[in-house]
Amino acid sequence: MADIIDGKQVAEDVVATVKAASSGLIAKGVTPGLAVVIVGEDPASQVYVSSKSQKAKECGFHSVQHTLPEDTSQADLLALIGDLNADPAIHGILVQLPLPGHVDAGLVIQTIAPEKDVDGFHFINVGKLGTGELATAFVPCTPAGSMLLIERVRGKDLSGLNAVVVGRSNIVGKPMANLLLAANCTVTIAHSRTKDLPALCRTADILVAAVGRPEMVHGDWVKDGATVIDVGINRIPAPERGEGKSRLVGDVAFAQAAEHAGAITPVPGGVGPMTIAMLMANTLVSACRAAGVEPPRF
Ligand code: GUN
Repeated sequence: MADIIDGKQVAEDVVATVKAASSGLIAKGVTPGLAVVIVGEDPASQVYVSSKSQKAKECGFHSVQHTLPEDTSQADLLALIGDLNADPAIHGILVQLPLPGHVDAGLVIQTIAPEKDVDGFHFINVGKLGTGELATAFVPCTPAGSMLLIERVRGKDLSGLNAVVVGRSNIVGKPMANLLLAANCTVTIAHSRTKDLPALCRTADILVAAVGRPEMVHGDWVKDGATVIDVGINRIPAPERGEGKSRLVGDVAFAQAAEHAGAITPVPGGVGPMTIAMLMANTLVSACRAAGVEPPRF
């Protein structure tokens, strides 16, 4: 039976490190500042955004939330980002995705100053990650958090290990693959056009599932002893809990996979809590860089 990787605990450890470093910075007269921008009324996005703002307050940050109406013009949104770029009290800017259809999300992201892009989505940060310039990059929060969970199990040097990342999104799959490569894994990115995905997954010492399809990775796709990181958060009907009830599952069939894996993340309580923790870490790092202070290591 696999070890269950406790993402909640690791996230709490990260946040504790952030709080300590934040107090140190505040004592020097620099309060880390995070601005979160949301456009529209999507209920799931509203929940994510308010938990990000709330966690920032807990960390002692200057936390600002801009909630804009669905029909906000692109020009107004770009102007707000321009103001936040110029505001010395703000070290991190996060524009919650998805944005309404009339707004060019790519343009919005590229308008954020790279040194405040705590999501790590700007081309400058994507390029730095791709070329191994990790000391000055911002790495997207979900893959960065997943990497910390892998390190807890396997250590920092993953030399000789085969990693398979299922999913090729810009937010998770591609940056995850780059992080694993930087840690010396042999990396394969699989996706919907991959041939014989089960056989490929069985080669993985580290298997990361980030596709957004409930329980798509079956237990017998998992190599004995593998480290399994499940990035998926899917809500499915759970009639066994009562009429109209639902429950969260990952992209991995957890119970079956746990029979083969050496270590596995649960859903919920695995990668999920790491995403917000790493947003706090990135914002803290940004404030440290702005203040010329060595940031803590996570
Ligand atoms: N929407 C879903 N995940 C994310 C994320 O990591 N960052 C932003 N900005 N929006 C998201």
